[in-house]
Amino acid sequence: MKKKLKEIFTDKKMLSVADFMEYALYHPVNGYYMNQHKKIGRSGDFLTSPKVSPVFAKLIARYCLDHWKNGEAELRFMEIACGDGAFASQFLYFLREMDEEISRNLKYIGIEKSHFHQKLFRETVEFHSIELYPSIADIPSFKGIIFSNEWLDAFPVRIIENCGEEMQEIMLRLDGDEIKEVKINRVDEPITEYLQEYSLEPQQGERIEVSIAMEREFKDLMRKLEKGILLTIDYGDLDGNCGKRGSLRGFKSHHLVDDYYKYPGEMDITYNVPFHVLRKIGLNAGAKELLFQRQDEFLMEQGVYGELKSCTSPDPFSAEKKWNRKIMQLMEGSGMSRMFHVLAQQK
Ligand SMILES: C[S@@+](CC[C@H](N)C(=O)[O-])C[C@H]1O[C@@H](n2cnc3c(N)ncnc32)[C@H](O)[C@@H]1O
Repeated sequence: MKKKLKEIFTDKKMLSVADFMEYALYHPVNGYYMNQHKKIGRSGDFLTSPKVSPVFAKLIARYCLDHWKNGEAELRFMEIACGDGAFASQFLYFLREMDEEISRNLKYIGIEKSHFHQKLFRETVEFHSIELYPSIADIPSFKGIIFSNEWLDAFPVRIIENCGEEMQEIMLRLDGDEIKEVKINRVDEPITEYLQEYSLEPQQGERIEVSIAMEREFKDLMRKLEKGILLTIDYGDLDGNCGKRGSLRGFKSHHLVDDYYKYPGEMDITYNVPFHVLRKIGLNAGAKELLFQRQDEFLMEQGVYGELKSCTSPDPFSAEKKWNRKIMQLMEGSGMSRMFHVLAQQK
């Protein structure tokens, strides 16, 4: 770890939180998403909706099919941050079951930054027409449906705090073997412009997470969508207000880690996606907002409870009971769907 910390800071006295995250998550060798360890799933660090229940992908396939049948989008599907291919294989399976002809004529494009996940994707997904790219920069323009689940929540963020007299940026320095926060008075132009553009005014003592890279990439994607639908699913804030502690957090072996500077490269670091930013980017680009709702409400409208299987067996581990439990895990109590939002924008 000592060696890693030295490498992160090299000869720099201070780093922004975004620089730290860039290393911790995306360093080509040591970055969490780039190394060879399993991350998504029960034996990894966190679950995503496709790993909870295949019904998630089935209902997305149903939503897309409606739009394809109405002729609202071309028969192309682009999945950004397609991970290990769990979603793609389920989506394509159910699509084939629902409409063989549409499935036969569909072109599937996956975008995945991690070579490790690209490899898993290739091993998992079998389909006649599939292309895989490392970045949306590889796509000149697109007509069809673009989908992402948990793409935007791990972009590097800079942290700005309202310290009373003025805004300050949280920077990091190395103190022995520990990373410590320091506040500096300089808040540069890109940050000031971002705060103004999205009307962000943190109260005294509050933090705001600013991801210039996420804003740039989402704008770029919006520009590239010539005609079709952009369906974005993630957990997030509705107004960008991150409160006193901010929303940044780590995930390791299914446990929340409050100290996100610990274990660089060994855990996920994630934040609440500012949905108001995505909505404004869409409006500015002339996109129509088709829907913005909580994931559980969206899944309900797509008929999630109709997917429950009837079962008479008293065995709590019967295939039907297991299937139903997974659906309920998506929907109930502290289930994932309440924390997630679905945004559909159309051009
Ligand atoms: C939390 S995982 C979600 C994977 C998948 N969508 C799912 O629901 O299981 C995030 C994925 O996004 C990828 N990723 C992060 N930033 C990316 C970017 N800018 N372009 C493409 N993929 C990216 C990571 O490598 C990782 O595979």
